[in-house]
Amino acid sequence: MNFISMCDLTHEGIIDILEKAEDLKERRKRGKTLDMLKNKSLAMLFEKPSTRTRVSFEVAMTSLGGHALYLNWQDLQLGRGELIKDTARALSGYVDGIVIRGRNDVVSEFAKHASVPVINALTEVEHPCQSLADLLTIYEFKKGFSGLKFGWIGDGNNVCNSSILAGALVGMNVVVACPKGYEPDEKIVSRARGLGVNVKITHDPKEAAEDADVLYTDVWVSMSDEAQKKKRVRDFQEFQINENIVKMAKPDVIVMHCLPAHRGEEVTDDVLEGPNSAIFKQAENRLYAQMALLVRLLG
Ligand code: CP
Ligand code: NVA
Repeated sequence: MNFISMCDLTHEGIIDILEKAEDLKERRKRGKTLDMLKNKSLAMLFEKPSTRTRVSFEVAMTSLGGHALYLNWQDLQLGRGELIKDTARALSGYVDGIVIRGRNDVVSEFAKHASVPVINALTEVEHPCQSLADLLTIYEFKKGFSGLKFGWIGDGNNVCNSSILAGALVGMNVVVACPKGYEPDEKIVSRARGLGVNVKITHDPKEAAEDADVLYTDVWVSMSDEAQKKKRVRDFQEFQINENIVKMAKPDVIVMHCLPAHRGEEVTDDVLEGPNSAIFKQAENRLYAQMALLVRLLG
């Protein structure tokens, strides 16, 4: 099984991974030796930079008794034009799974030709591993999902797309507030609506914030959007999570951000560091959600 989109998992599959993640977190924190992936190897290919994804996947493999290899695109023959399908087939002969961060068509091509599980570590369309850790974080804080309001304020980007699917799969009401022209992927929105939950797209941040249980934002300028930086910073001025926005939400709202953050742009420093912020617990949970995912796919 591959994990390219949040839709590759069912509601039951997600709950199973979250329960496994909680158990692994508790056992790892108690210093227990875990060896579910003993003698297993994971190749990690990155076409774009990463801090959390790279380190959490590598530590996840080590913690489970396996081994991860970080492979920089430019150091591989891929950087000199070797075909993706040839690379995917050759690597499949050595490793038990492949994690890949790159363009969406590249990741799809890899998944098509690899004979071991392929995990999407971020494309311009989705970031499902992030959403899995986000669900674990929400589950820890709220003890469930059903009927929660998930308010997104900012760009309808990769993280937003996966959040919409994740929210729909676990039964949260999702409200996305973004500037005109920065809406999430239409196909993803209709797929999420097809799961029978409310997904509202608005251009008014207040609609996402009012009575929210979860408030989420991400950078205004993603890794593939750098050329539009000036325009984006202008267009997103009203789409910041700040104290006024947090006050409109429920008193126990949790504020989330996948990181890296740009303080003073999509989120203020006081909110990021404030009592409602779940942001660094969320970052830590990347490790445990991915440990559970790896056990499911490679174990
Ligand atoms: N949130 C996230 O994926 O961070 P990195 O880009 O540092 O991996
Ligand atoms: N939307 C951001 C997420 C980074 C983890 C990006 O694609 O750059």
